[in-house]
Amino acid sequence: MTDLASIEPMLKVETLGLRFRNPLILAAGILGLTAPILKRVIESGAGGVVTKSIGLKPRKGHPNPTVVDLGFGLLNSMGLPNPGLEEFMKELETLRGLEAPIILSIYAFSEDELVEIGRIVSDFNVVSAVELNVSCPHVDGISEIAKNPVLVESYVQTLKRHLDKPVIVKLSPNVSDIVRIAEAAVDGGADALTAINTVRAMSIDIEVGRPVLAGIFGGLSGPAIRPIAVRCVYEITESLNVPVFGCGGIETAHDVIEFLMAGATAVQLGSVIARGGLRVFKRILKGLRDFLEERGYSSIDEVRGLAHRR
Ligand code: SIN
Repeated sequence: MTDLASIEPMLKVETLGLRFRNPLILAAGILGLTAPILKRVIESGAGGVVTKSIGLKPRKGHPNPTVVDLGFGLLNSMGLPNPGLEEFMKELETLRGLEAPIILSIYAFSEDELVEIGRIVSDFNVVSAVELNVSCPHVDGISEIAKNPVLVESYVQTLKRHLDKPVIVKLSPNVSDIVRIAEAAVDGGADALTAINTVRAMSIDIEVGRPVLAGIFGGLSGPAIRPIAVRCVYEITESLNVPVFGCGGIETAHDVIEFLMAGATAVQLGSVIARGGLRVFKRILKGLRDFLEERGYSSIDEVRGLAHRR
């Protein structure tokens, strides 16, 4: 059994004024909708958690089928189903006192909604930071934001004006120049970025000649998108001095090290949990410790950004 306490000193991450006991954070959208499950994720070894994306009002999401396992990744078109902010905060209230930071993922269809979300969340100290999802690739009214630097800057600025917590902006890979969008987020006041959300994609059932997902288009996650995510983290951290949470297809300690060397401050795990369950945290933590010890590194800080040194 992996003794987490003995690993923690090598793996701790301090960023945004927060302390993560290790760099493995639950990504938005996986298991993040109820307090008991979030608690189990933390007990399983996660250094922090990001909740499912929550909007101001309850939302049903898209009709089924909404998820398909393609073998090399998951294709989802969930459509941002959630109980709405007020209801979800009652759920999170029961997590008060947990030691791992809780990051609330939010989305908004307008800046007016962001103002209200910011005001409501500001006083809620169960939440340590907010991740602004401007990049869900299959919900009209959201997917467009991430492609438009003017909108990104303005959304972030509005949220920052009304929220006294760190804001992390989750970026889309579905753009021609992710650095331009990252700059806009930072200009708007983003404290950190998450790279990347899912890749817009589709799959067709050739027996019936129709798209597999009811929503036609979805977002591809899992190992197939990892090299895209690594490239995005590298490009952003080559140009900007901002903490970046790497996200996309991470399955092993090797993958985590790759993201850290690309410049990520920490990483987020999603699809791997859907496939491998909560055991993945301890497995990857042990792999990270072994990697560091075998190569004589005393902490993950020593590998971060190594790939930039040429
Ligand atoms: C969803 O609930 O639709 C997934 C969220 C996302 O892709 O950002």
